Amino acid sequence: MDRRGFLKAGGAASAMALSPWPGRLAFAGQTADGFTVLRATGGSAPLLGNQGGPTPLWAYNGQTPGPEIRAQRGETVKVRLVNELDQPTTIHWHGIRIDNAMDGVPDLTQEAVPPGASFDYEFTVPDAGTFWYHTHNRSWEQMARGLYGPLIVDGDAEDVEHDLTLIVDDWRLGPDGAIDAASFGNMMDWSHAGRLGNWVTVNGRDSPRFDLAAGTVTRLRLINTANARIFTLAIDGLEMQLAGLDGQVFDETVVLDTPLTLSPAQRADVIVTPAVPGSHALMAADRGEQVAVAQFDVSGMADAPCAYAVLKPNGLPEPDLGSALTVELLMEGGAMGMMGSAMMGGGGPGMGRGMGPGSGGGMMGGGGPGMGRGQGGGPDLGMMDMRELVGNGMAWAMNGVAGMPDKPLFAAKRGQSVRLTMINETRWPHAMHLHGHHFRVLTRDGKPEPMTPWRDTVTLDPMQRAEIALLADNPGRWLLHCHMVEHMAAGMMTWFEVN
Ligand code: C2O
Ligand code: CU
Repeated sequence: MDRRGFLKAGGAASAMALSPWPGRLAFAGQTADGFTVLRATGGSAPLLGNQGGPTPLWAYNGQTPGPEIRAQRGETVKVRLVNELDQPTTIHWHGIRIDNAMDGVPDLTQEAVPPGASFDYEFTVPDAGTFWYHTHNRSWEQMARGLYGPLIVDGDAEDVEHDLTLIVDDWRLGPDGAIDAASFGNMMDWSHAGRLGNWVTVNGRDSPRFDLAAGTVTRLRLINTANARIFTLAIDGLEMQLAGLDGQVFDETVVLDTPLTLSPAQRADVIVTPAVPGSHALMAADRGEQVAVAQFDVSGMADAPCAYAVLKPNGLPEPDLGSALTVELLMEGGAMGMMGSAMMGGGGPGMGRGMGPGSGGGMMGGGGPGMGRGQGGGPDLGMMDMRELVGNGMAWAMNGVAGMPDKPLFAAKRGQSVRLTMINETRWPHAMHLHGHHFRVLTRDGKPEPMTPWRDTVTLDPMQRAEIALLADNPGRWLLHCHMVEHMAAGMMTWFEVN
């Protein structure tokens, strides 16, 4: 099958009149004890639209994206994960400054939920904004099969009339529209850019169309759920005002005059105000070539008055650069890299239970975070050259360790500020994500980052260095990894501790 047969023409979107949000309709409510149930289970979705399919998937409540979970800032979210898959799974609440025990990282914050079992997640959401949830076990397979959904937290002073969540994903499908399962675990992908797909969807649909009313301020909540694809998004026919990134809105919006780059796991809040009834705007994603992925149809009256958006930042506490602990993270490896050898990580500290880091707890065989390779905590396994590493499914290292080290990258007292310099000595971009905290991006290659935005995931270009700062105020053991999930599985992960 010619891959190019899958590429969509750049013309008008050709979608049927589908519900713009498949998940919302079937989202059936709660248990008597107030839990929303998310069943990780089989399902299918018409990813190919009228060009084939439907595609069999793994999905929350059988749909991808999973149901939109919506909460008010400060509220408690209660979700019961029921595992109907034939492999262990967890849910991670990406970008939420969450209680560590609810973070969903196998072997670090919980044991992965075995087939047939369930787990109750209960946590408060301190920030209003655009977040998402996804599996954190064997992510390279489970996310690619559809296990993710949006988590939207509303603030109180929000004056946007319209709100549209747009989840962009990149699937690798076979000629019959099925997920290409034969290539899971392919070391070629793992040591290069990760698993790139051949089919783009928005909200699990092929080129969906959305109605926008003229004169109505609309907040687009863009989420990149791809395993590895960096999307560059543009809307032809509407001015995009960037209002926030990774769930944290700015004091003021910024008019975007270039396309928006979203790495895996990153989000952007974009304000659009369509003016001309009867007009159409196309959203295009650049993935090597520009493809139309969604269409907006503007209806209403020509002279509709224009409201404006008021979004209030969450006001996160600032790190103190003067007293900050300085930490360096060296990222190495991958194809065309210079890494000769690295220490093979032993799977991290395990679940703790009173044992110190590196005590070799060996709590379970469910696999490290997203790895599924039977590393459940233990001492590091010794130096290996690149060939041996690849033989063990590893291709990347951070500070000389491939995979979860037994010692944390740093240990901070609660309230300590940390200044972290990440040095990408690879030929590949990486989307570096910290759990449990947001951070400010300070500099890139020594140059101040415009607006020093709060983020939870930052892209480092090949051979680039970036400096970030965080206030380590959330106690627990937290993961830090590349969100190109094949890179994480092949070694790009470490952890830090706050106590
Ligand atoms: Cu979005 Cu460690 O994950
Ligand atoms: Cu990476």
